[in-house]
Amino acid sequence: MPILSLEELLLALLIIVFFFIWFFMRREARLSQKREQEYSRKLKDMQLQLQSYIADLDSLIVMLVGIHEFGMTATGIVSKDELASSIVNSACKLMRSDTGSLMILNHETNELVIAASRGLAPDIVDATRIKVGEGIAGRVAQSGRPIFVEDIETDIRFMRVSSIRYPSKSFISVPLRLKDRILGVLNISSSDSDRQFEERDVRLMTILADQAAITLENIDLYGNLQHFYLEMVQTLARAIDAKDSYTHDHADRARRYARRIGKKLGLPEVMIRHIEYAALMHDIGKIGIDENILHKAGKLTDEERSIIKKHPAIGNRIIAPVAFLSPVAPMVLYHQEWYNGQGYPEGLAGEEIPLGARIVAVIDAFDAITSDRPYRKALSREIAIEEIKKGAGSQFDPKVAEAFIEALSEENSAPDNAGSHGAKEN
Ligand SMILES: [Fe+2]
Repeated sequence: MPILSLEELLLALLIIVFFFIWFFMRREARLSQKREQEYSRKLKDMQLQLQSYIADLDSLIVMLVGIHEFGMTATGIVSKDELASSIVNSACKLMRSDTGSLMILNHETNELVIAASRGLAPDIVDATRIKVGEGIAGRVAQSGRPIFVEDIETDIRFMRVSSIRYPSKSFISVPLRLKDRILGVLNISSSDSDRQFEERDVRLMTILADQAAITLENIDLYGNLQHFYLEMVQTLARAIDAKDSYTHDHADRARRYARRIGKKLGLPEVMIRHIEYAALMHDIGKIGIDENILHKAGKLTDEERSIIKKHPAIGNRIIAPVAFLSPVAPMVLYHQEWYNGQGYPEGLAGEEIPLGARIVAVIDAFDAITSDRPYRKALSREIAIEEIKKGAGSQFDPKVAEAFIEALSEENSAPDNAGSHGAKEN
């Protein structure tokens, strides 16, 4: 006789099956709840991480834009001092720091000297000389590798001297390096405990320093090239005017007058420099003119005159392709124009003629009058001044003529120059 009937057995089995189903479903629900919690926690972590990446990316973009801006600014810089200040300012801005310096390596003394700085006392800037291998900057210059201190208080390398020699809490020193050659060291420091530098800052400083090193080198090359080119042009100018007794005096005098007139008219330094060049090389185009015509003692025929009149255009063609002289080219092209429009090559008048060309016209005329010409001897300085006064408003810009005459009279009254400019200076 069975203990349980078939129905009871089935019922019991059903109950057991339901129990198991309920048990597994409950476990699954618990697991899925747990998984959900885990997912939501992970999602939250990921969101936070993403936010921090975005913030990092934002600041990285700001820094890269800063480096790019430095590159753009640096292309227009032509002096080393200007570049050094620009490097320090860009580094301080990028690193949100108010203390920094750029040290240039003097290869003869093997010392680093401060070329530009921010937040440093002038006496420290003047007195600082660091031998390669000494101190932090010296070690950076020696090894060619950056030194980065996150927190000087906890950095074992600086424990002994931290409070004495390094008032900053966090700093970065990176080399200005061109291949294996060290040009200098860029230092940035922060005494602000809220601004601790990170590895990423070192990488950005290195990018900036690399760019700065290239620009620095370019300025050197550019300076040498400029010097070479000017020497060449002066030699050519002397060669062209050799038979007109062209001497160093003429070139020096032309440049000096250009500078004085420029100063009197309140022109910016860069423009004064271009006018100096124009004063020096305005007749460079005569190199393309037949010497027999150029130095003919007798009266010129109409054809010969028209050939000579080509010299401003030839000069322009010689100078215009040279990038650093391109602002000089129009001054050369238009130096024979008259203020009243009666000159050549285009018959420009008044303000249409570039100011540099109007200045060169006055200097050139004065030089021509006071020099020996194939057809006459040099005339006196007083006659030249009279001629320029007479030509003011017709041949010459009256303001330029006035500035020139003032510059001449000042030079005449200066004790150093008294008596040094006679009628014949050749
Ligand atoms: Fe000329």
